[in-house]
Amino acid sequence: MRIAIDGPAGAGKSTVAKILAQKLGYTYLDTGAMYRAVTVLLLKEGLSFTDEEKIKKLLQVMDLKIIPEKDGQKIYLNGQDITEVIRTPRVSELVAKVSALPVVREHLTKLQREYVTRGEIIADGRDMGTVVMPEAEVKIFLTASPEERARRRYQELKAKGFAVSYEEVLKEVLKRDEVDTTRKVSPLKQAPDAILVDTTGLSIEQVVDTLLRIIRGKR
Ligand code: C5P
Repeated sequence: MRIAIDGPAGAGKSTVAKILAQKLGYTYLDTGAMYRAVTVLLLKEGLSFTDEEKIKKLLQVMDLKIIPEKDGQKIYLNGQDITEVIRTPRVSELVAKVSALPVVREHLTKLQREYVTRGEIIADGRDMGTVVMPEAEVKIFLTASPEERARRRYQELKAKGFAVSYEEVLKEVLKRDEVDTTRKVSPLKQAPDAILVDTTGLSIEQVVDTLLRIIRGKR
């Protein structure tokens, strides 16, 4: 079975997808990490986000490895472990711009489609149910109020030692929502056959239970 989880930043997709993958014995794929990896690459190379030709060439030689782990995945870019680097506020601030580029989407969508054919998979992102695996047996659209999503991100960043304010994080989350939902190629939207789950006020355990019930109902 394939499980697609889409939704805006901070809805809890990665957290619950990782737990579900463990419980069900599925492979987990975090596609947001791939867009973050390309953002890291463009920053490292000092490339302008508008130079589509150069970006295309760079993507063709990019070596992006995703290694599934017991509690998530490790991500390597050209041999370097960038699992932590992709989560920095600088990358979060720029990733929506990078992922709106058609050349980037085309490349990563191809890689993701290859990846998801490898068996039982739970993948999260913005266009899993609409573009990458429209044939998925289970599609969930996970959301929560912007304030709650910002609060979760803020707590995550604070725990990692980043000096950010709640207001800054809320602004970043709202900006990312806007760019993700209004871009021309594969905008963030609920697939017609996806089940909407609003996680505002719910604990992680409650969300996991809700999704498990949905998944078991489809088996
Ligand atoms: O899931 P995460 O917040 O790490 O995703 C980072 C960004 O990557 C999103 O804000 C979005 O711009 C982009 N993304 C995307 N399509 C996906 C997954 C992520 O455009 N399937």
